[in-house]
Amino acid sequence: MDKKLFQFPKDFIWGAATASYQIEGAWNEDEKGESIWDRFSHTPGKVQDGDTGDVACDHYHRWEDDLEMIKRLGLKAYRFSTAWPRVLPSGSGKVSEAGLDFYSRLVDGLLKLDIEPYVTLYHWDLPQKLQDKGGWPARMVVDAFVEYADVVSRALGDRVKNWITLNEPWVSAFVGYKDGRHAPGHTNLDEALAASHHLLLAHGRAVPVIRSNSRDSNVGITLNLSPKYPASPSVADRAAATSDDGYLNRWFLDPLVGRGYPQDTVRQHGTDMAFVQDGDLEAIAVPLDFVGVNYYTRNIVRSEKVSEAENVPQTVFRGDEITEMDWEVFPEGLYKILGRLYFDYNFPVIHITENGAAFVDNVNADGEVDDPERLSYIQRHLQQVHRAIEAGIPVKGYFAWSLMDNFEWGFGYSKRFGLVYVDYKTQKRIVKSSAKWYQQAIEQNSAA
Ligand code: FCB
Repeated sequence: MDKKLFQFPKDFIWGAATASYQIEGAWNEDEKGESIWDRFSHTPGKVQDGDTGDVACDHYHRWEDDLEMIKRLGLKAYRFSTAWPRVLPSGSGKVSEAGLDFYSRLVDGLLKLDIEPYVTLYHWDLPQKLQDKGGWPARMVVDAFVEYADVVSRALGDRVKNWITLNEPWVSAFVGYKDGRHAPGHTNLDEALAASHHLLLAHGRAVPVIRSNSRDSNVGITLNLSPKYPASPSVADRAAATSDDGYLNRWFLDPLVGRGYPQDTVRQHGTDMAFVQDGDLEAIAVPLDFVGVNYYTRNIVRSEKVSEAENVPQTVFRGDEITEMDWEVFPEGLYKILGRLYFDYNFPVIHITENGAAFVDNVNADGEVDDPERLSYIQRHLQQVHRAIEAGIPVKGYFAWSLMDNFEWGFGYSKRFGLVYVDYKTQKRIVKSSAKWYQQAIEQNSAA
């Protein structure tokens, strides 16, 4: 394909992402405190095959080699998260210098290689001590998070200039406290709703603190967003899609831009919203420098009521390209989300902070991993990003999920998302063909 096609702006930020619990290991080393994910994965039956993040990719010990690898891939930026219980073993109070030093060395190492660090403060590993006091459903976690954000941004803020407060608060709140598939494994809607509010409030309160510790920095939040397509034009299907959209997307987007919580979703949850106090909504609506979107797939929504009430035939069907997560490959959905973030919500800058796919990978006889499906997934999504930029949407960066295979939460090590293959027995890293393609795309600044 002509390399002039799909040419990106020259300052486009090409990156890859990881998260602390998914790669670090060293779960109880130095002074690190226990996190809710340590507790959850150590509880039998919670994670597939009994996998835990105890060792993961052993990145805590192999970070220097991993930085070299990041450099070799040609990445301009690297998104990682700091583990709250590594920095504040009890969640608040005493700081672990060893924990802070680890991240400080990592940041120095990146800068030395001319790679821009993007730091996520919370990618789901809440200190267990805070969960013992009620976790995110308890308002006290808000102050603890602000304290933690203060400690980290004070220590790294001279060098880190891009901050993400939270990763996917919807997942923290609803998968952790309502569905119970993630730590801490609760199944209580009221807890989940309070958690979602406290997450947003913690974000809003932390932003000015980070800004004052880290001059001229960009601060944002990362949301997991999926467009909801009604399965047919019936009134019932459209209503179901709107309702799902409120649950996943608008519940976070609306308060972040000062519109408050969507009232249709409040009614649907049947909540009195007693956890919202005076001033909270103003704090949550603090203006951001960017919004991060993690995009993987779309959802097609079919109302259970549709057949009796209207008997409208389904007209929208899932495509037949499906990843190992059972997620439909639907690149256009990314374009749709990007347009909405800019034209409906007016975010000034958008980064794709995660995008990628799990497929089965095999090391071949030559010791290589050929992953054409992942390559094609990433390429086609990048082409949609390009399309969005052409349409005037200010997308400034793209971070592939993930730099390397890692602990995929409830699925343990059974799902591989990496650009780089990890042999968990030897901790050997093998650059997959998707990574080689990505490296070339970065070099040519093109997704052709
Ligand atoms: C996202 C998470 C990330 C990873 C991908 C596959 O929801 O933020 O940690 O697990 O999904």
